[in-house]
Amino acid sequence: MADVRTGEQPRVPAPAGREPEASRAGSPWATANGATPLPPGRAVAISARDVSAWYGAKLAVSGITMDIAKNSVTALIGPSGCGKSTYIRCFNRMHEFAPNARVGGTIEVDGNDIYAPGVDPARVRQRIGMVFQKPNPFPTMSIAENVAAGLRFLGIRSKSEIADRVESSLKLAALWEEVKDDLKKPGIALSGGQQQRLCIARTIAVEPEVVLMDEPCSALDPVATLKIEDLMRGLAERYTIVIVTHNMQQAARVSDQTAFLLMGDDGAGHLVEYRPPQDIFTNPHDKRTEDYITGRFG
Ligand SMILES: Nc1ncnc2c1ncn2[C@@H]1O[C@H](COP(=O)(O)OP(=O)(O)OP(=O)(O)O)[C@@H](O)[C@H]1O
Ligand SMILES: [Mg+2]
Repeated sequence: MADVRTGEQPRVPAPAGREPEASRAGSPWATANGATPLPPGRAVAISARDVSAWYGAKLAVSGITMDIAKNSVTALIGPSGCGKSTYIRCFNRMHEFAPNARVGGTIEVDGNDIYAPGVDPARVRQRIGMVFQKPNPFPTMSIAENVAAGLRFLGIRSKSEIADRVESSLKLAALWEEVKDDLKKPGIALSGGQQQRLCIARTIAVEPEVVLMDEPCSALDPVATLKIEDLMRGLAERYTIVIVTHNMQQAARVSDQTAFLLMGDDGAGHLVEYRPPQDIFTNPHDKRTEDYITGRFG
């Protein structure tokens, strides 16, 4: 299928990160539709091929192809309504919670098609966790219970194992020192920035492979935001992080690769450009990216 808006030719047919070197003519970052091959040698965590998403008859995301590198931070940027949230919700089968929602194309995580028949969506959501814009600790649960919630769901019953996993997750989420004496206090009694780190601890407690973050800092002050950004860089050593952000400085600071999405004439989000942030923000190859990052629209 050609890109509806630009008329560009079909997307890379084979998983780009696994293409033979010779097929990447010219710049390793340049392909027809902004679907950038990863640097050679980088393992692929998520391979999205021609991914489209609908709400009923409404197309919200149109034919996006991209590889997301393992143990990296990938940022998605683009104007409001261009389909960023919809697109990442396809990565953990949350899109299908919307009435009459549909996903087209293929998404493989670690080489496994997450939409294949027989795949359990609940298991997918455990392997590919999600942190939302507004911190959402379970309101009736203590700090420790919030972190342990997913462990119980996995069937872990041993109190000592749960306590260990709660502690290690809170440490990884850079919250342990602030809450270690208050583990029985309600999660919602924490500050907004602490609540967001609690939600990150809850997500990583079940040891996912990928953590999706949809504008995780938009409700936080600059100090809490920088804490979460530091945390993301650290977490990328163990996990693959995909973050949606409207904050371009944030994308530039934290991401290894930045994807720019834009709504096309068909009213759906397309991938315009996908490159390292230093290219996107200082040397965009596409005029539409340049217009967006210089504030000419969006
Ligand atoms: N539950 C839903 N039902 C119907 N349409 C929806 C639903 N959620 C989103 N949409 C539509 O899908 C399109 C993409 O929305 P989406 O929330 O993915 O955009 P976004 O890029 O995340 O925007 P923002 O930056 O404002 O969060 C929009 O046109 C939106 O109105
Ligand atoms: Mg959104």
